[in-house]
Amino acid sequence: MGRTLVSILLGAIALTTLVVVALWIWSEVRITRRYPLAPEVAQAAPAHAVVEGRRLSKLYGCTSCHGADLQGKVYNPNPRLVRNHAPNLTLAAARYSDEQLAQAIRQGVRPNDGRALWGMPAQTLMHLTSEELAAVLAFVRSHQPAGAPTPPESAGWRARWAVMTGALDEPRRVARARVTPAIDLGPELAAGRHIARTVCSECHGADLGGDDVEGGPDLRVVGAYDAEAFDTLMRTGVPPGGRHLGIMTLVARSDSKVFTPAEVAALYAYLSARAERLNTAD
Ligand code: HEC
Ligand code: HEC
Repeated sequence: MGRTLVSILLGAIALTTLVVVALWIWSEVRITRRYPLAPEVAQAAPAHAVVEGRRLSKLYGCTSCHGADLQGKVYNPNPRLVRNHAPNLTLAAARYSDEQLAQAIRQGVRPNDGRALWGMPAQTLMHLTSEELAAVLAFVRSHQPAGAPTPPESAGWRARWAVMTGALDEPRRVARARVTPAIDLGPELAAGRHIARTVCSECHGADLGGDDVEGGPDLRVVGAYDAEAFDTLMRTGVPPGGRHLGIMTLVARSDSKVFTPAEVAALYAYLSARAERLNTAD
């Protein structure tokens, strides 16, 4: 009797170990899968582009995630994420050509091994124009290689679970972003649409219809804002009524305050027209 119990116990332990190892391997295969890299043509930027590149890098969140000095940092300690560190870009820039940096930024794929860059918002950065990209690269390259590489990271179980269930799937997000673009409201509103896609879509979804992972709501909410309230939100993170908007308030205070008044106006024109269009379609 005692013997049977021991065998059952050992069997159960062996089976559990097997399942755990299998799940680990399966998630690792998904995390390190290789993707084809498309060629990129990087364009040279004029010398003054560094200043504009610094401003754009704030708007695109490069400095929030990779650090104000671009030397890398823990950008988000959430155990559900595959990566908690955003790597040192001054060292990456020394290793990669402009074309390779463009591949990392616009495609979300590591140029030297074709692996997905988990945490890089490629569904947003894929919309950067050649000029915007050139300015960002000029800013990145204005830094001498400095600091230490961020430590190697292995995803924890909560992140692996998210990968296995498909809750976290960076490459699919990028692919989906291509087929669900934010609605096009014509050439007059194109400038605002471009800003929304390259800045707001990171947390509000590729089609601006909301993003479950990042928590940003459908930007239809802008329909309830007048131009002045929207401008205040972009500059201070405070909405009408003074509610605290968590990460949105932080984003406004650190990043979107560097929008020019013309950019805020263009963004408002597009988002309020989009809200009107969607509300009348219902
Ligand atoms: C939301 C956070 C976030 C934002 C915003 C972000 N990155 Fe990243 N980036 C990451 C993370 C995390 C990685 C590492 C991914 C991995 O190793 O799987 C990464 C990787 C990279 C790499 C590859 C580095 C290497 O060593 O191979 C480059 C280049 C890069 N980012 C540039 C940029 C630039 C330029 C911007 C702004 C246009 C930007 N990133 C915006 C989080 C971010
Ligand atoms: C880093 C993530 C992030 C980025 C980038 C971001 N947002 Fe948000 N935003 C959020 C989150 C999260 C919320 C929900 C906050 C809440 O309800 O607590 C939010 C809420 C909002 C709201 C709703 C405010 C209300 O009245 O409830 C508006 C409007 C908004 N964002 C506009 C924008 C615009 C426009 C951009 C681009 C310039 C942008 N956001 C970029 C994360 C982000």
